Amino acid sequence: MQNLKLIADEKELARQKEFLQRDREYTQELEAQLGRTPTYHVTNFGCQMNARDAEKLSGVLSEAGFTEAPDESADFVIFNTCTVRDNADQHFYGRLGRASHYKKSNPAMKIAVCGCMMQEKCNVDKLRRSYPYVDLIFGTHNLFRFPEYLCRVFENSQKYGASASARRVVDVWESTDLIVEDLPVERRYRYKSGINIMFGCNNFCSYCIVPYVRGRERSREPKEIIREIEKLAQDGVVEVMLLGQNVNSYGKDLEQPVTFADLLQEVAEIDGIKRVRFMTPHPKDIREDLLEVIAQHPNIARHVHFPLQSGSDRILKKMNRRYTKEQYIERALKIREMIPDVAITTDIIAGFPGEGPEDVDETIDVIKRVRFDNAYTFIYSKRTGTPAASMPQVPEEVVKEGFDRILSAVQESARNSTGALQGRVMTALAEEKNQQMDGYITGRLSNNTIVHFPGDESMIGKFYDVSLDDNKGFYYFGKALRENERGY
Ligand code: SAH
Ligand code: SF4
Ligand code: F3S
Repeated sequence: MQNLKLIADEKELARQKEFLQRDREYTQELEAQLGRTPTYHVTNFGCQMNARDAEKLSGVLSEAGFTEAPDESADFVIFNTCTVRDNADQHFYGRLGRASHYKKSNPAMKIAVCGCMMQEKCNVDKLRRSYPYVDLIFGTHNLFRFPEYLCRVFENSQKYGASASARRVVDVWESTDLIVEDLPVERRYRYKSGINIMFGCNNFCSYCIVPYVRGRERSREPKEIIREIEKLAQDGVVEVMLLGQNVNSYGKDLEQPVTFADLLQEVAEIDGIKRVRFMTPHPKDIREDLLEVIAQHPNIARHVHFPLQSGSDRILKKMNRRYTKEQYIERALKIREMIPDVAITTDIIAGFPGEGPEDVDETIDVIKRVRFDNAYTFIYSKRTGTPAASMPQVPEEVVKEGFDRILSAVQESARNSTGALQGRVMTALAEEKNQQMDGYITGRLSNNTIVHFPGDESMIGKFYDVSLDDNKGFYYFGKALRENERGY
């Protein structure tokens, strides 16, 4: 069964590589017509997984012969959408409207839309109906067919003309078994990379749209993942982030099951990989074997993102999170006990259906007891088709009151834990030039804290021992004392 599946994956990959060859020819024709190299722009929304998908889209477009443009005035513009909260949807429609203005002055321009929003029929219908300038629509399950779709966009526009509605390419799948990973990738950073270890989610938290738009859990074969990371390491990548909606269930669906702890250990032992991160472990099934692997490998980041969502047992049950407040606290404190210096960060939702001030009190109690190092607080957003959408909703002013209280509790907690690092020397990866301050580099500690220090571009991608001199609340200013080749 597995073998047949791998053969199908390989066959599809070969097909797409052929399309990519044809894309190159079409791009050359376009280049002759425009009298310059055609440009592309990928606009990305959403999580780390979408960011990784965006790198694949860029990879295909640059392999096809386009060069990257800084904004949506490019010849090929693609929007990789997110639908986890309503504001992500609104943001996308705003940007799409703006791109249409560019198209008026550049008739050769093509606009494509893909990603999680396209897995919802209502959005595809809306684009078909009211956005005639969109040339290509596809979803999350068939992203690997992008080379083929690109080809059809070129062909249809020759066949039907640039504005006829018959030219438009639309293909959205309900699901897929295929895992096609070896298409070109254009990494945003040369020294770090995300790696998909699995796709989809089986948890169906009652507020969440992700299982509907990303399908069921599918793990990649460990040897494929290791091979990809070894290649990245040879290419100069020093930090990897293993990506999955619930990494704790990695490997359960493979013919020869593997645990996430085993995979993480193997990745941490790859030559040249100096820092390993992962996202996201679900608190319902985090286990000690994972914490042991982290504790034993200093190159695994001292950071666990551990989404709480709510501290109230009543709300957790309605959210279908499958842990209680006390179980969560016990597991978080176990992380602190087994991994000295670890930072624990979290996600919290304010205003879930039925949440009252007493539930918020419970959440604040968890914030105080776990002492989160950082937290994202989101206002609950009703997602059509999820169970929580049909539960009685909380009035806006009650949501706001709860949100504000949670926010000030997490800010206090984050300020305290950042402050505790004052005066220490810790290892930072120099990540980029500081956008605001000339002559400064922005670095990141293993525990995910940001530190800015004097330096130049030649330092980017290397590790430095940095003194944390000046605490600015949630980040530091410091000095790079020496390079640290080991990375920890
Ligand atoms: N798989 C990850 C989360 C992915 S979504 C996990 O289980 O933790 C990222 C975050 O978005 C979630 O942790 C949650 O806090 C938030 N989120 C998801 N759906 C939401 C909704 N409908 N409204 C508000 N926040 C939501
Ligand atoms: Fe959404 Fe829950 Fe799956 Fe995370 S675990 S993606 S919150 S359903
Ligand atoms: Fe958004 Fe899809 Fe990620 S809905 S959060 S981009 S999985």
